[in-house]
Amino acid sequence: MADNANLLITGAASGIGRASALRLAKTHHVIVADRDGDGARTVASEIAAAGGSATAIEVDVSDGASVHEMKTQIDTDIGPVLSAFFAAGIYIRGVTGDIPEADWDRMIDIHVKGTFLCCQAVLPDMIGANTGAIVNMSSDFAVMAVPGAAAYMASKSAIYSLTKSIAIEFAAHNIRINALGPGPIDTPILKSGRTEAEYEKARDTLANSLPIGRLGQPEEVAAVLDFLLSDRSAYMTGQIIHPNGGQLMW
Ligand SMILES: NC(=O)c1ccc[n+]([C@@H]2O[C@H](COP(=O)([O-])OP(=O)(O)OC[C@H]3O[C@@H](n4cnc5c(N)ncnc54)[C@H](O)[C@@H]3O)[C@@H](O)[C@H]2O)c1
Repeated sequence: MADNANLLITGAASGIGRASALRLAKTHHVIVADRDGDGARTVASEIAAAGGSATAIEVDVSDGASVHEMKTQIDTDIGPVLSAFFAAGIYIRGVTGDIPEADWDRMIDIHVKGTFLCCQAVLPDMIGANTGAIVNMSSDFAVMAVPGAAAYMASKSAIYSLTKSIAIEFAAHNIRINALGPGPIDTPILKSGRTEAEYEKARDTLANSLPIGRLGQPEEVAAVLDFLLSDRSAYMTGQIIHPNGGQLMW
């Protein structure tokens, strides 16, 4: 791991990605990448206002040309990426019989293909430097059984598998790849597909079902990310780590 190096975060305009960008900007130049370009620019401005340095880039991680364009811009304007957090994601609810093909494709394209394309984009820099750390965003749902989440669960399981596969392929290059598997974290994604009343009810139900008795905050996931990108986790690769309030224990 290289402190003070460039850190690429996708999904950095909101929620966990945003909290991570703000925290890690104390030790890195953060590339704030998101499909929401205005949101990314706002987070980069917040970092600058706090004395850090950041670059905002608009990208659609599910589009190979867009990921390539992002990496070209980073190569030209910033330099090698030796730390990365791929957090871009969406949540579309639906039981299996009702999930439209287009929703299935979006879920798989953004999570699985997007994570793969972003890993592919930064690995050459890390191989060249013989060091690097990547954290991919999976979920507790990668290893749980939950109704109404088939596409999401399949995509998050795939990210966990992808993480292990890349970890074993690149360990010899001193590159570590781990995954985060959070439980319910209070971010805008929890509102997705829900009315305000449904969201409030879901928050209460989720909080009451958790051993810790409350939803997690994005900053609590960012703290674990900070550890996984640092030398404090130098002997960890191919793992999924669960900041989850005890939702899943294994
Ligand atoms: N919040 C939770 O409870 C929770 C739990 C487990 C895992 N996660 C995962 O954490 C990640 C971040 O979610 P969050 O909770 O911060 O939600 P969020 O909605 O606040 O943030 C998601 C971000 O991803 C961006 N994004 C979506 N599609 C994109 C694309 N194609 N290209 C680039 N950016 C894109 C969005 O614009 C948004 O800024 C997601 O992968 C999510 O699945 C969240």
